[in-house]
Amino acid sequence: MKARENFGSKFGAILAAAGSAVGLGNVWRFPIETGQNGGGAYIIIYILCIILLGYPVMMSEFIIGRKSRSSTAGAFKVLAPGTQWKWVGRLGVLTAFIILSYYAVVAGWTMEYIFLTLTDQFSGKSVADYGPMFNDFVESPWKSAMWTVVVFIVTMYVISRGVKDGIEKYAKILMPMLFILTLVLVGCAVNLPGASEGLEFLFNPDFSKINASVVMNALGQAFYSLSLGMGALITYASYFGTETRLRKTAVNVCAIDTFVALLAGCIVFPAMFNAGYSIKPDDIGPSLIFVTLPNVFQQSFSGMPILGYIFSVMFYLLLLVAAVTSMISLHEVVTAYLCEEWGMPRKKASVLVTTFAALLGVVCALSFGVLSDVRILDKTFFDLFDSVSSNYLLPVGGLLTTIFIGWYVDKKVIVDEVTNENKLRHASVRIIRVLIRYVAPIAITLIFLSQLGVI
Ligand code: PHE
Repeated sequence: MKARENFGSKFGAILAAAGSAVGLGNVWRFPIETGQNGGGAYIIIYILCIILLGYPVMMSEFIIGRKSRSSTAGAFKVLAPGTQWKWVGRLGVLTAFIILSYYAVVAGWTMEYIFLTLTDQFSGKSVADYGPMFNDFVESPWKSAMWTVVVFIVTMYVISRGVKDGIEKYAKILMPMLFILTLVLVGCAVNLPGASEGLEFLFNPDFSKINASVVMNALGQAFYSLSLGMGALITYASYFGTETRLRKTAVNVCAIDTFVALLAGCIVFPAMFNAGYSIKPDDIGPSLIFVTLPNVFQQSFSGMPILGYIFSVMFYLLLLVAAVTSMISLHEVVTAYLCEEWGMPRKKASVLVTTFAALLGVVCALSFGVLSDVRILDKTFFDLFDSVSSNYLLPVGGLLTTIFIGWYVDKKVIVDEVTNENKLRHASVRIIRVLIRYVAPIAITLIFLSQLGVI
């Protein structure tokens, strides 16, 4: 067997994990969830979920990954040989596969939008044109399906370059770029007329909107956005060097991810209010950033259209890259499962994963058009995959992960991993252990039960 590759530096490890975390979840899904769940109050619940539940789950995944030096599917077997814990790893693989397939659809949309911006098809359009333009595109029987397949091919190419020369290298270049561009876009959006209403919606909490299902959504979104509950970060942590500080890495990844999500809100909501969209939950759906953002570009740069052109191209390009870095981490979970558990050569495994996930992805893509009448539990394939994975599978995966680390695995493993074999401070280990053992599993269970109407 070839020696396992590691990330080359601590900074690289942070950026790679942040690359998995920051993705469509931040720019595309977070504003939608915030809009549908009442704005400011949702954000407060969301941030609490990140600190009290997301952080300990992330630490648990880092501990499992670095200690076992194996991807999700194998990690539970290494740390708990001969037990049924292996099913938690397998559940992660299934979840990754489901997310991978519908995630690629939205990543594909960004490709179409790169094409549309490159060929300058937004210029001269007005606010009212972007909605129908998007609908025509997703309802087409082949366009969105075609882009889904293209995105899969790109992902397969990148994944073949390996850990250091692929994942890490691209994260180091692209994450800072994504960050700068996001900031510039915020600058444009908050200067649009009507922006203050959007910001008020975002930051003014209305606690009457909070109920069990809102809390459950915030939890699901926190897990989704941080790439938790399905082993992507277990896999990445298995590439962390012995010098990597788990606490610091987790704090950084949580902070970067939350910051980018909030900034995305500062782009989307001012833009929506400016463009005259109402914030009725029914109006907010997957199309949000594909309908509102083109309008921001047009309006903000109406004096200098060339800047608007360059800017929109770069924005969708970077959105695509952010999506691809997340897709790589999802793809890696399933590919590594086939390699490690089934002994399949890496190349064959990645082709197989790509083929099946792309087939499912095409079905999701078509569920906006020709397959829109096919409903399961009253949802299209796309909506079903999205809600089942983030509202159920990720929290269940996260719950089992914290129980595993908090109650099954020896305490010494936690102490050793968190303090890098006693080289780092012990001070916060206790708090982290309490969060992992008690706070996270109890809170996740309660939220879950109340969502199911049991309590
Ligand atoms: N965290 C990614 C995002 O916000 C999505 C993702 C979920 C990636 C789970 C990997 C695993 O877009």
